[in-house]
Amino acid sequence: AAMQGDVLAKERRDLRQQESQDKAAQEAAKTDLGQEWNDPMIAPGERRFASDLKPSKQNGAGSDMPEWKKIATGKGDMGKRTSMSIKDQRESLPAFKMRRQFLDAVRQYQLLIVVGDTGSGKTTQLTQYLAEDGFANEGMIGCTQPRRVAAMSVAARVSDEVGCRLGEEVGYTIRFEDKTSDKTRIKYMTDGIMQREILLDPELSRYSVIMLDEAHERTIATDVLFGLLKKTLKRRPDMKLIVTSATLDAEKFSTYFNECPILSIPGRTFPVEIMYSREPESDYLDAALTTVMQIHLTEPPGDILLFLTGKEEIDTSCEILYERMKGLGPSVPELVILPIYGALPSEIASRIFEPAAAGSRKVVIATNIAETSITIDGIYFVIDPGFVKQTAYDAKLGMDRLQVTPISQAQAKQRAGRAGRTGPGKCFRLYTESAFQSEMLPTTIPEIQRQNLSNTILMLKAMGINDLLGFDFMDPPPTNTMLTALEELYALSALDDEGLLTRLGRRMADFPMDPGLGKALIMSAELGCSDEMLSIVAMISAVQTVFHRPKDKQQQADQKRARFNDPGGDHLTLLNVYNGWRGAGHSDAWCFENFIQPRNIRRAEDVRKQLVQILERHKLRVVSCGRDTLRVRQALCSGFFRNSARKDPQEGYKTLVEGTPVYMHPASALFGKAAEHVIYHSLVETTREYMHNVTAIEPKWLVEAAPTFFKVAGKDGTLSKRKKAERIQPLHNRFAGEDDWRLSAQRR
Ligand code: CDP
Ligand code: MG
Repeated sequence: AAMQGDVLAKERRDLRQQESQDKAAQEAAKTDLGQEWNDPMIAPGERRFASDLKPSKQNGAGSDMPEWKKIATGKGDMGKRTSMSIKDQRESLPAFKMRRQFLDAVRQYQLLIVVGDTGSGKTTQLTQYLAEDGFANEGMIGCTQPRRVAAMSVAARVSDEVGCRLGEEVGYTIRFEDKTSDKTRIKYMTDGIMQREILLDPELSRYSVIMLDEAHERTIATDVLFGLLKKTLKRRPDMKLIVTSATLDAEKFSTYFNECPILSIPGRTFPVEIMYSREPESDYLDAALTTVMQIHLTEPPGDILLFLTGKEEIDTSCEILYERMKGLGPSVPELVILPIYGALPSEIASRIFEPAAAGSRKVVIATNIAETSITIDGIYFVIDPGFVKQTAYDAKLGMDRLQVTPISQAQAKQRAGRAGRTGPGKCFRLYTESAFQSEMLPTTIPEIQRQNLSNTILMLKAMGINDLLGFDFMDPPPTNTMLTALEELYALSALDDEGLLTRLGRRMADFPMDPGLGKALIMSAELGCSDEMLSIVAMISAVQTVFHRPKDKQQQADQKRARFNDPGGDHLTLLNVYNGWRGAGHSDAWCFENFIQPRNIRRAEDVRKQLVQILERHKLRVVSCGRDTLRVRQALCSGFFRNSARKDPQEGYKTLVEGTPVYMHPASALFGKAAEHVIYHSLVETTREYMHNVTAIEPKWLVEAAPTFFKVAGKDGTLSKRKKAERIQPLHNRFAGEDDWRLSAQRR
């Protein structure tokens, strides 16, 4: 033990030294929130980028499930070749050299921070070391991931290494998808899932070890788990907590976690040459693709990693690159183009790990999921345009919004580092050196300080944590952000006048989704339309879209889609789609006929079933309103009254809360229709601020749904000067005796 202490002390010294060499702590931002559910369907004839798809090998070649003892001695019955190569692979990882120190430290201390470069084996190896050493005998080893895709892909990889089927000894749980069983000893899950598990069982009694992985990402859920798990540890002296980070924030983590020891996995990195643009790029996408081609045609072998901001951009780039390569003819070496983003189905995602065939080069085009969450071997060239898509609270709209923003210096360094894992690499930064120095923040701002917290606060309240200002946050959110969230929950009637959770609020917390959707679902049971609302909520929360709109058949797809259009709006249109599919016996043929993505609608069906269970648990009725769908729209108002807008006499709409101009999305069932008042599910910014999933409403429903939020304002100055200046027209004056009484959206 004494020696152990020395080792750790040395680690800390080394770390400090390293840190002084490189001051900037590295952080990565989570991106692509909300995009992860869009599994794009690949229709026949459309498979060009996926033409080399192979079935996922994650289920092993029918390998028998090993027992943990066998694994512990490394003498499992796995196929010899596989077993050897996997064993070699595992032992070549930097984490392997630290195996003994790691296990000793976990035995000795309740809390441990582990730092190590991305790809050093933290996520895939540490859990296995623990299981091999007996830590899984008393309870599960739980490992959290900020991203769903990472949880899935890592669990698949580890089950391969262990030699079991995914979902048996090694499994994963993400929202609406549980791939674990009684046998599961190592469980990967999103940090959001772990949060929900603490809500149900604050002691986490099923677990012996929790690993909070990728803590440097600083997602809201991980940040909240920091505080929650600190409490759990006090109640569970036998439980262990490991916090891992790919960056040098470790000291800060250690200070927060009661000065716990830090174990550092020595890196194995090569120098990376950094190239900056001489002039700012006017079109980073074009610059990026040109750079890909240049590298491919002029640089020595080695794969390329290009960071872009989101699915759309990545898909388009893949297409453009494909066309440009085709234009060069067959004489140039093959370029294998591989997209990766949160929404990609796991079979495709696993392709990016496979090496390109001899003589060809691979280019992986990724969101910043490849910054730290996922490691691809063989990358020698990184192209970094310097942007990331991240969510941030937009006070003007009163909601979170995905925005493309410059990355931080820490992220830029992390991205560059991805080129130096296999050998000396090159990083092409598509921005100037002075932009790096003067325009980029040193580190990324943690999510908890820039996003809406109503979800999180509802969850904390449901755990009985009422003193939010006193909660042990590593970096507390701004008080204003907390107040906004409390107000929002109050308006939703999830909190009472004292700020305490109401019965409704407790119920809402049980629905793993935006509080607005949860509330609409609960209210629909009272309004007698929960059968309908279930379908709508499932369609909205399970996938980004069920509609399929292939580039070459857009018109045909739009025509088919229009047949589902409901005069009440998009929510009811979704209901029509769902009912159409149900009426057709859930048939795939019907989906192809109607340009609906079968995979996505099936996923929605699966989510729907899970929502039914939650409703039943709360003794809420599943009832249909038949044709009386007006009630569905009323129920929607109860959750989305904030997202209300009124037609502007000039053009478009104006939100009721802030008077921000917003527009009907051309794909909406209400596009070009005369709906005066609407509510929307979300806003999507492209060239303008577009409302997405819009429903026509009666303004009086707003007052009924949220009497504390909307009120009838009189002449006596209850209207702000600005609102008066805008001359807001009465929305509804049933409650007022005089004509010039005004109904306006007002914050309490
Ligand atoms: O967590 P950390 O970044 O330290 O490393 P890791 O995710 O455990 O990855 C260790 C090794 O496993 C890397 O070389 C990855 O390329 C490999 N790996 C893989 O082949 N497939 C996965 N799905 C995940 C990791
Ligand atoms: Mg990892």
